[in-house]
Order: sequence, then structure tokens, then C-alpha cells
Amino acid sequence: MEEQEYMRRCVALAKQGIGWTSPNPMVGAVIVKNGRIIGEGWHVRRGELHAERHALSRCTESPDGADLYVTLEPCCHHGRQPPCTDAILAAGIRRVHVGSDDPNPLAAGKGLEILRSKGVEVKTGILKEECDGLNQVFFHFIRTGTPYVVMKYAMTLDGKIAAYTGKSQWITGKDARSRVHQERHRLRGILVGVGTVLADDPMLNCRMEGGRDPVRIVCDTHLRTPADSRLVKSAGRIETILATCCTDPARQRPYLEAGCRVWQLPAVQGRVNLSALMQRLGQAEIDSVLLEGGAELNWSMLEAGLVQKVQVYLAPKLLGGLTARSPIGGQGVPEPGRGWRLENSVIHPIGEDFLIESEVAYCVHGAC
Ligand SMILES: NC(=O)c1ccc[n+]([C@@H]2O[C@H](COP(=O)([O-])OP(=O)(O)OC[C@H]3O[C@@H](n4cnc5c(N)ncnc54)[C@H](OP(=O)(O)O)[C@@H]3O)[C@@H](O)[C@H]2O)c1
Repeated sequence: MEEQEYMRRCVALAKQGIGWTSPNPMVGAVIVKNGRIIGEGWHVRRGELHAERHALSRCTESPDGADLYVTLEPCCHHGRQPPCTDAILAAGIRRVHVGSDDPNPLAAGKGLEILRSKGVEVKTGILKEECDGLNQVFFHFIRTGTPYVVMKYAMTLDGKIAAYTGKSQWITGKDARSRVHQERHRLRGILVGVGTVLADDPMLNCRMEGGRDPVRIVCDTHLRTPADSRLVKSAGRIETILATCCTDPARQRPYLEAGCRVWQLPAVQGRVNLSALMQRLGQAEIDSVLLEGGAELNWSMLEAGLVQKVQVYLAPKLLGGLTARSPIGGQGVPEPGRGWRLENSVIHPIGEDFLIESEVAYCVHGAC
């Protein structure tokens, strides 16, 4: 096998950690001796072994003199786990092949320097793009301390996210909806405005077999979330945060008693300050958020520069209605040239629908 094939295997192994490693990266590793894989591993979940140690622990023969392939530069610091560089040196690994660089500027290259100084050969940048693609969330979170936000909506071909009555269940078919549950498993939090809670009474849980529920977050300036909503009633078993500007303990009490967390945040233009909310989510180690609308909150998040990716589930359906909602509300921009530009767009057919994924290029907006 070529080095790229070994690294491809590492990428596949890393993906087994989807949804479980947060706020750590997804990492995969293989150990190769005399042209054969003798050990494979990945970072299974937060708090457990790093991929390199996991692969070393599963070797079928001595790794002394072997090659290690790993999707991310090995760590050299003490965190929840001891440094991987120590384990690599102790195992007698002869060569290390790396995909992505360490995104932390303070640590980048340090692990590799240690290995080189002890006579280990090091090669970097193997399948870099694929390896970097595993950890968009982690790279963003490490650099900014705030969650990577994916704005998701389901829209008809005439640009509506709900009928004129406000009803939006269901715009897309079954396959697209199950894809959304994979995303709810993958990302750590899910965020909506109180308008969506009032209109849909959603659960916002993950209905994928073996999946993990995201932490549910509602932007609710005045605590209008109904106490008998499904969100509040299930807050004892699924983490739920109400982000509010309401400081009245009596108004907060029923939600606290139901098991919700109530976060008091500053206001901007009479509504929850979303930048402050993102900071607080980052401090709570929520590294990623699926923004599920509705239109008002989508606009505010975009305007505040807080959205990194857009996922549009496009249904071949038409609803009509001048008052039926489109995905992004607010005032909008005065001319097309001042719109947010999206880049690196990819389209995937999903059942009868389509998913279009794009990254937001903020510096293209406005005066930038
Ligand atoms: N097809 C889809 O993908 C999809 C997804 C979601 C929703 N929907 C539909 O969208 C509709 C609801 O959308 P919506 O636009 O009316 O409501 P929304 O965006 O869900 O919620 C807006 C409300 O959130 C509160 N909020 C708190 N802080 C905010 C901030 N910084 N910026 C903006 N809002 C903030 C505000 O109420 P307070 O000031 O009182 O806090 C605001 O009125 C429903 O019909 C729903 O079915 C469709």
C-alpha cells in the first residue's frame, strides 16, 4: 500500500469518532511494519485514549521500528491524556507520517520537533485536505473559542421555509430528514429562536439510532417559551438552555424547576446578544452548533458574523404566498452586490431532495 492509502484508512478510522470526541478533534492512526498494518486506532471519545495510543495498544506485534500514520500532528502536552510523543518514542516508532498540522499556533510543530530531535523521521502534509476536512469544527473552536455554526434550513424551490400559515412540517422527504439527524448527532448544540418553539413545539433531539442528543438552546429574550412545551417538559433528560435577558427570578423559576438552564445575557437592540451567547457556549465547551432557524434568528446570526457554514435542503416543491417565510428575515441588504458570498459549494442529491453546503466568506460582505 502507498502512504496515501494508509492515510485514507486513518481518515476512515477517525470518522468513527463522529459526534463523540467533542471538543477534541477526530483523529485516526495506523501502525505499519514490513508492509503490513499491525495496529489501528482512533480517538473514540472525549477523555479516552488519543488515536496514536489507541493504535499502539491494539498492535498485534511489537511496534518497534514501525511506521506510524496519523491524521493530525501528535500532541506533546499534558491534557486529559499524557503526550502522544512520549508513547511514540517509548514504542520505538521509526517514522511518523502526518496529515494535518496542529491548529494551535502555540503547539504547532512542537511535537514533530521533539520526535525529530530523538531521531524519528517525520513527514507531513499527507492527504492534508482530507485530514483537514475531518476537523473544521475543532480548528475553528481552537482559534476562536466560540462554536462552529452551521445554519441549516429546509426550503422549497420557490424559497419558502413554511407555508403562509407558519406550518413547516414537512418541507423535505424522509431521507433529507434523517440526514439532519446525523448532523444533530455530529454537532454539539442546536439553536433556535423562540418563534420556532412557539410555531412548531419541536423536540430538537437526535432521532438517529445510537445517536447523541445535542444540547438544545433557545434564544428567548423575555422567556416566552411555553412551560408546557415539549422542550421544557423533556429538559430533565435532554440538556436545555434558555438564553434570555429576563432577570426576574420568579419568571425563571418554573424553567429551572423543569431542569432547564437559564442563561442571563446582555441585550443588543432589545434582544439576546448573540456574540455573548457564542462566547458563553464556547466556555461551556460547546464547540459546534446547528442553527435551525427560524428566519429572524438566521438573519441576526448572519448579521453578527457568527455563521460559518450553510446547509440548504432544497425540496422540489412550490408553496407560494407573499407572506410565507423565506429562510433569512431581518431587513436584508439593499442590493445584490452587498449580499453574503458563499464559497466551496457542494451539492448532494438526497432522496427526492438536494443538499447544498457552502461556507460563508465574510470578508466579501460589505466594505471588506
Ligand atoms: N423550514 C425550516 O427549515 C424551518 C426551520 C425553523 C423554523 N421554521 C419556521 O420559521 C418560523 C419561525 O421563524 P421566526 O423567524 O418567526 O422565528 P425565530 O427566528 O425562530 O425566532 C425569532 C425570535 O427569537 C427571539 N430572539 C431572541 N434573540 C434574538 C436575536 N438576537 N435575533 C433574533 N431573534 C431573537 C425573538 O423573540 P423575543 O425577542 O421575544 O426573544 C424573535 O422574535 C416558523 O413558521 C417555523 O415553522 C422553518
